[in-house]
Amino acid sequence: MISLSFGVLAATQLSLACASRCRNQPGDAGYPTPAQWSALNDQVDGRLLHVVPSAKACLELHCTEAQWTSGLFRVGIPGSMNYYNWEEDYSVTPPALCLQNGTKCAQGRVPLLAINATSAAHIQAGVKFASRHNLRAAVKSSGHDYLGRSSQKGSLLFWTQYLQDVSFTDSFSIGSKHYGSAVTVGSGVGLKKMYAAALVAGKFVVGGTAATVSAGGGYTQGAGHSAFAPIYGLAADNALQYEIVIANGNLLTVNEYSHPDLFWAVRGGGPGSWGVIISVTFRTYPAFDTTMHTANVVTTSASQTGALFAAHARHVFDWDAQHAGQYFYLYNSPGRSELQLSTLFVNVTASESLALMKPLLDDARALGAAVLNETALTAPALAIVGFADDASGTNGVMGSRLVPATAYRNNPDGIGAAYAALVAGGVEAVLGHIVAGGKVSANAHIDSAVTPKWRTAKTHIIVVAHWDDSASPAQIEQIKQALTSNHVPLLAHMTGESDSGSYVNEADVREPNWKVTFYGRNYARLEAVKAEYDPYDLFIVRTGVGSDRWDADGMCRL
Ligand SMILES: Cc1cc2nc3c(=O)[nH]c(=O)nc-3n(C[C@H](O)[C@H](O)[C@H](O)COP(=O)(O)OP(=O)(O)OC[C@H]3O[C@@H](n4cnc5c(N)ncnc54)[C@H](O)[C@@H]3O)c2cc1C
Ligand SMILES: *[C@@H]1O[C@H](CO)[C@@H](O)[C@H](O)[C@H]1NC(C)=O
Ligand SMILES: *[C@@H]1O[C@H](CO)[C@@H](O)[C@H](O)[C@H]1NC(C)=O
Ligand SMILES: *[C@@H]1O[C@H](CO)[C@@H](O)[C@H](O)[C@H]1NC(C)=O
Ligand SMILES: *[C@@H]1O[C@H](CO)[C@@H](O)[C@H](O)[C@H]1NC(C)=O
Repeated sequence: MISLSFGVLAATQLSLACASRCRNQPGDAGYPTPAQWSALNDQVDGRLLHVVPSAKACLELHCTEAQWTSGLFRVGIPGSMNYYNWEEDYSVTPPALCLQNGTKCAQGRVPLLAINATSAAHIQAGVKFASRHNLRAAVKSSGHDYLGRSSQKGSLLFWTQYLQDVSFTDSFSIGSKHYGSAVTVGSGVGLKKMYAAALVAGKFVVGGTAATVSAGGGYTQGAGHSAFAPIYGLAADNALQYEIVIANGNLLTVNEYSHPDLFWAVRGGGPGSWGVIISVTFRTYPAFDTTMHTANVVTTSASQTGALFAAHARHVFDWDAQHAGQYFYLYNSPGRSELQLSTLFVNVTASESLALMKPLLDDARALGAAVLNETALTAPALAIVGFADDASGTNGVMGSRLVPATAYRNNPDGIGAAYAALVAGGVEAVLGHIVAGGKVSANAHIDSAVTPKWRTAKTHIIVVAHWDDSASPAQIEQIKQALTSNHVPLLAHMTGESDSGSYVNEADVREPNWKVTFYGRNYARLEAVKAEYDPYDLFIVRTGVGSDRWDADGMCRL
């Protein structure tokens, strides 16, 4: 008798636990009824949408091929991801796909519904609704996320792309503290729009090299690097205030005085884990001109490419006095590699830039590489650093490491050897960035969740891999495994560190030791902030803080 009733009790508790362990999906008893969705739609001024994968949306919109591959076009499609493999669900067999020109279309990892928000109130209503009904939530602005964190299977999406306000002030203050010149942008504002407005206002604002990346979306939550970070610091270092809707639906103003713990976390603690950002305020600076030097360097063997990058490593401090930023992108094909170098200088003329680059390029020629297309031009900084559009609608993954200055000083040949091994191993591209050092290191005192590895880094180096829609699931898996198991470890080895770090926004979602690699010693403090502002884990993204409590889809607690 007794053991039987224990058994019944245990079973009842188990089924209750199971019921709340997972987010409600269509068909579940707790999933909102059509009448409840309709009431939400009224609350958000009729802005609730059904979301479909971009390939399906494009059939209805009759997209041209140029539109399919345009970041500027795709940000207007609620289900679209820049790397559209993040719309597909490869975790089920057969994969749930919706490919361009495909004959079948599955929903995959694309959210079910979205709120096309134009106000904080729309987000507040949606967040309260998602919390009340135990729904899977997603937050997206541009859909640029390289780790797929802005698309979530079975979710209600808080879509912030149309929070488009931009306003400048010469006297931003919080209480009695004055910060001077600043800009406040809605979390849907892309860099292209922000730069255009800043150019008109005669201001400079730290941002990245892209058109549609949202300054107030994932960018500063990752850290936000820029070619001008060596002069002005990371974008997160320049963020003064956020407006953010947290999981209980409250709209908070977050800065160094108000909710300083959340202000700490949202600057670098990883995107998508804290709440829905409505706007961000950045420091601005007077506009200035930049001189951009470019050259292409062609090598014809792995060993020659290795020698070229050992030379680059020895010259990497040549431009420190100018605090230059540099993109050094290597594109590899069988028997031929091309390094595309772009170096951005301030207070340097075009002819001075040629002289500053000459030692490296002379060494490149001496080892038999061909130096092509050297150019130097001077123009307003924000006219040069922005992009007209971003390539989009392709499939790809990436991985990265922050390579410390000590590795460059102590072991330039080791860096060359890692490049040689990457090229010999068939890497598609290795995208190097001098976007640290200088002010990024000097800002180590700023108390934010930016991983400390940014403060000791000299470069941020990414490996990428792409495939086209003809690749089979097995081939795609092979490409991902080569990245995670072969290419990223070569970058990790390059750092000379056993606890090497990676930039959380341009990284491999399969990083095995992601807590250390993405967050370092900040993780425990991030967990504490998460417990305070999102105690029920509404905002869960893969490799985000707290995601280890959930399955890979963030659907069920482990
Ligand atoms: C072409 C290109 C160029 C890039 N260049 C740079 C660069 O120069 N420097 C650099 O540092 N990075 C760069 N990145 C990486 C960029 O920082 C990340 O892709 C970033 O996550 C994009 O943020 P998003 O909001 O635009 O993208 P989304 O895909 O919309 O979102 C990214 C993440 O932020 C979250 N998020 C989005 N909106 C909000 C919001 N309103 N509130 C809270 N969370 C939100 C999402 O949940 C997701 O986790 C580049 C990316 C691309 C595609
Ligand atoms: C889809 O069709 C368009 C138009 O014919 C073509 O340009 C594009 O390359 C096709 N895409 C794929 C993945 O086959
Ligand atoms: C989202 O809202 C904006 C602003 O009102 C509007 O221009 C856009 O067409 C809407 N998008 C969709 C997919 O409904
Ligand atoms: C460029 O020169 C101006 C004028 O001398 C100076 O104010 C500014 O700080 C310099 N900028 C950098 C990045 O050195
Ligand atoms: C660079 O030079 C090569 C060889 O002279 C030429 O074919 C190529 O078009 C040039 N590229 C650019 C971007 O100018």
